[in-house]
Amino acid sequence: MEHGSVGAQERENPDPTEVDRPIPWLVLSLVGLLFGWGITYILMQNPKDDPALGDSRTLSTLQAKPAGSPGGAVDGAQIYSAQCVACHQATGAGLPGVFPPLAGSEWVMGSDKVAAAILLHGITGKLTVKGGSYNGQMPAFKDKLNDAEIAAVLSHIRSNFGNAAPKIAPDVVKAEREATRDRKDPWAGDDDLVKLK
Ligand code: HEC
Repeated sequence: MEHGSVGAQERENPDPTEVDRPIPWLVLSLVGLLFGWGITYILMQNPKDDPALGDSRTLSTLQAKPAGSPGGAVDGAQIYSAQCVACHQATGAGLPGVFPPLAGSEWVMGSDKVAAAILLHGITGKLTVKGGSYNGQMPAFKDKLNDAEIAAVLSHIRSNFGNAAPKIAPDVVKAEREATRDRKDPWAGDDDLVKLK
């Protein structure tokens, strides 16, 4: 019994003691170097640069090619499916009694000026389209689409859904935007639009 316990004692490891092991100077100096490099890097940046000038594209580069239109041409069909299809439908037939048809519409194929005015400011109140009466809200697009985009979507609806009217130039939209610049409200249906014709 006594013999056995001595054997057990001999097999034990010595008690652990704390030893002084400083961080190696190499590691310390590497950390110091990194720290110094970081500070220098930050100081060498020029924080007074206007962040808007970060990439060197010019305004004209950006304006020449609106998003999503390779080659820079504005695609009326694309604008129609993004902005109009929900109400006027892919066929341009609208929804009876709710959304008026663009197909065969006298407003679409009539005066280019009036068509531009409708897109810029929207319509509210009683509107007659192809003999049918509507009383809904057509949203204004003056803040959503630029002149070229409005011209493109108008040209699209004037030459699709069986319609055949000449294209509309961005200048017509531009002139109409200028002429109605102070307008805040949508056109009041037939009453306002007939006067525009
Ligand atoms: C939220 C639904 C809605 C959206 C989106 C919408 N419209 Fe309309 N639109 C209407 C309604 C409703 C009228 C009729 C307004 C009334 O009854 O006073 C109308 C009327 C019109 C008219 C005159 C009447 C006719 O049928 O010819 C044209 C042109 C027109 N919209 C074109 C467009 C184009 C182009 C777009 C997309 C850029 C568009 N609309 C987006 C709801 C919409």
